[in-house]
Amino acid sequence: MKIIRAKDYADMSRKAANIISAQVIMKPNCVLGLATGGTPVGAYAQLVDWYNKGDIDFSEVTTVNLDEYRGLPKEHPESYWSFMHRNLFDKVNIDPAKINLPDGTNPDAEDACAKYNQIIHAVGGIDLQLLGIGHDGHIGFNEPGEAFELETHCVDLTPETIEANKRFFDGNVDLVPKQAYTMGIKTIMQARKVLMVANGAGKAEIIKKAFFGPVTPEVPASILQMHPDFTLVGDEEALSLI
Ligand code: F6R
Repeated sequence: MKIIRAKDYADMSRKAANIISAQVIMKPNCVLGLATGGTPVGAYAQLVDWYNKGDIDFSEVTTVNLDEYRGLPKEHPESYWSFMHRNLFDKVNIDPAKINLPDGTNPDAEDACAKYNQIIHAVGGIDLQLLGIGHDGHIGFNEPGEAFELETHCVDLTPETIEANKRFFDGNVDLVPKQAYTMGIKTIMQARKVLMVANGAGKAEIIKKAFFGPVTPEVPASILQMHPDFTLVGDEEALSLI
């Protein structure tokens, strides 16, 4: 486990974008596992900036996103499909045929998840998986108590996650979808590199627990202690307790 200390959010974003950019330069046809949420937005903006300056080329890159809400149309502004297009895909030269997210519009959970697993296997697995971390230690939508050995599956979101995400749904918990399709911990652990970004004092406690406490399904991110190539880039506040 490597921990990189960044001064602030902008510095964290730049450092994370540098690592992603290095991956794309070293292997132009790499598979990037991507995350949504507030934390990676700055890293995506930095990548777009470098793309505009001609420093990075996404034409051969394949992407697989971590998760998607079940039941939200793709075009809904809060679907992860929309989020990714808004923040990255629409702004760089990525091939739309190489963009993959779980199909939240497929009501058949088993089918949607099986198809997503097939995609991940067919592209040869993930070269670099970007992650944020939830306050309860979730990664993707793998909530506390999830088995470590799962691939893509359907999950019920916890009340805490629904509460944390209501900011994206007019502050109304009733509008937040209650289920999602998510890559499992097994899929994440099979990524050849894992990069986590974390910022803000609100993440300090869980960062300490996840990476300096016991490895347990009660803190899903703690399994990353066992990953052979895991890097955490955090700002001073997020790393303040370690
Ligand atoms: C996003 C995801 C989530 C977030 C986590 C942290 O695709 O799967 O695990 O990474 O909820 O979210 P933020 O970055 O908003 O604190």
